[in-house]
Amino acid sequence: MVRRILKEVKEYKAASIATPLCMIVEVIAEMLIPYLMASIIDKGVNAGDLNHIIKVGGLMILIAAIGLIGGLAGGVLAAKAATGFAKNLRKAMFERIQGFSFANIDHFSTAGLVTRLTTDVNTLQMGYQMALRMMMRAPASLIVALVMAFVINSRIALIYLFAVLILSLVLYLIISNAMKYFKQAFPKYDALNESVQENVSAIRVVKAYVREEQEISKFKKASQAIYDIFSKAEGTTVFQMPAMMLTVYSCILLIGWFGAKMIVSDTLTTGQLMSLLAYCMNILMSLMMVSMIFIMFSMGSAAIERIYEVLEEKSTIDNPDNPVYEVKDGSIDFTNVKFAYNKDAKEDVLKNINLHIESGETIGIIGSTGSAKTSLVNLISRLYDVTDGSVKVGGVDVREYDLTTLRDKVAVVLQSNTLFSGSIYDNLRWGNENASYADCQKAAEYACADEFIKRFPDGYNTHIEQGGSNVSGGQKQRLCIARALLKSPKVLILDDSTSAVDTATEAKIRQTFREKIPDTTKIIIAQRISSVMDADRIIVMEDGQIDGFDTHENLLNNNKIYKEVYDSQMQGGGDFDERAGKEEE
Ligand SMILES: Nc1ncnc2c1ncn2[C@@H]1O[C@H](COP(=O)(O)OP(=O)(O)OP(=O)(O)O)[C@@H](O)[C@H]1O
Ligand SMILES: [Mg+2]
Repeated sequence: MVRRILKEVKEYKAASIATPLCMIVEVIAEMLIPYLMASIIDKGVNAGDLNHIIKVGGLMILIAAIGLIGGLAGGVLAAKAATGFAKNLRKAMFERIQGFSFANIDHFSTAGLVTRLTTDVNTLQMGYQMALRMMMRAPASLIVALVMAFVINSRIALIYLFAVLILSLVLYLIISNAMKYFKQAFPKYDALNESVQENVSAIRVVKAYVREEQEISKFKKASQAIYDIFSKAEGTTVFQMPAMMLTVYSCILLIGWFGAKMIVSDTLTTGQLMSLLAYCMNILMSLMMVSMIFIMFSMGSAAIERIYEVLEEKSTIDNPDNPVYEVKDGSIDFTNVKFAYNKDAKEDVLKNINLHIESGETIGIIGSTGSAKTSLVNLISRLYDVTDGSVKVGGVDVREYDLTTLRDKVAVVLQSNTLFSGSIYDNLRWGNENASYADCQKAAEYACADEFIKRFPDGYNTHIEQGGSNVSGGQKQRLCIARALLKSPKVLILDDSTSAVDTATEAKIRQTFREKIPDTTKIIIAQRISSVMDADRIIVMEDGQIDGFDTHENLLNNNKIYKEVYDSQMQGGGDFDERAGKEEE
């Protein structure tokens, strides 16, 4: 897992390797200085040898300068390596997410993906930067300082060893306690982001339902949860500093005590005592750093796990090895199709579907809410794969096509559609980026969008806000249809795409389709029977099964459901779902 993540270091490998080396240079310089200091005091100051002081002093300056350069270079390189690593990780994750199928997206929540891309990557970036700088530095400086201390005076060095052991134990207890909390923190970020994301993207709905209070309290709860966890975690880590300080000062006291005695008995020089005190600080600081590294690791490992999940998520829909690049015609065949969103689901959403649609036919699909109309058509452009059986377009199994080819030739206007910020022209060209202005205008005419676009002061250059919030529901639907038409598809699927368009305009769109794109297979899902009445044939969906598939006249005579809905809609102008209510009476 870690190896997979580290693969993304890529071009920053050199900086990642150079950083610890620079840090080692810094450590060596740092360790030599107290040693030289001892020499200055003992051989220079105490012996009154000015020459020695100047010589060794000069050397000290040189070494300090080298250490400084090492430290600076290490810092810069570490920052570069870590930010570069984070950049690569984000890019890799983003690309992975773009390759996700609908089923993959169902698996992760959008908010979860956002947290993984932002907070988790940031945490890892910080951890990586610190690891590069500290990983070699802290243990190296700990060991070197201990060794130097033993070289100078092994009896006093024993005090250090003892202090190190005690402090390690204390730090271990503190950290293992804190780690527990850090691991819980990330899922809480998901909740926070979910609250923010949901609220901000649906702020209009929140306002319409006057749900501000509830949304604020939901946010507060998520925010409070993170506060609680972090204050608990930090609450345990605050003991780190006092514990360390207590040990440092105890050591200094002990060294002062024993050192003074040794100086009196002439087994230790003043200079040596000075450098031992300097090493004391070094040793315990390094230990502190090691403990920080552990904390960083525990936070990092939670982040790594979550990033890894995204990077290693296998897209459930992939391009086949030898894909077919041409869709012959718009004929569609379903053979014994079964489909479930979730493999473990007890009941299939689509059960045993068999149907054949000729190329160029206009097919209406009608059925109550949740009868799996959307699920049925989603299989045609391979937004989901069948669980069993096969779906063919132009005589070839959809799983054998190149995905781009298939989705270009099978254009879907999704039930919940969206426009993107940009001009109308930009939005239409989503369907086909090479479409000329004339092409766009033609598609808009077919979709009856031309009339209202022309009325806008800026026409086709009118700016669409994010999500298409500045056009009406019906206008948005017509723009989405025009966008799909620009693909010049062989199969065009409209999933409830004219529900907000008035009946007269809707009829006009259908009429244009019949005249202008006769070879395209048109599948129209609708709630109103009037929307599908004039189709060549109509599928009546009921509870994941095809209840009837025939012309309007035949269905009226033979299909009970169809007849009931027709009657209710023609009399009261009611809609499909009112049938359910009527039956219960
Ligand atoms: N992404 C999904 N994950 C899991 N279950 C889903 C998903 N989408 C739909 N379902 C379930 O599949 C069933 C069929 O849904 P589908 O969207 O196909 O109905 P529909 O006929 O299009 O309804 P409507 O008329 O409301 O659009 C429903 O029971 C629904 O709960
Ligand atoms: Mg639907």
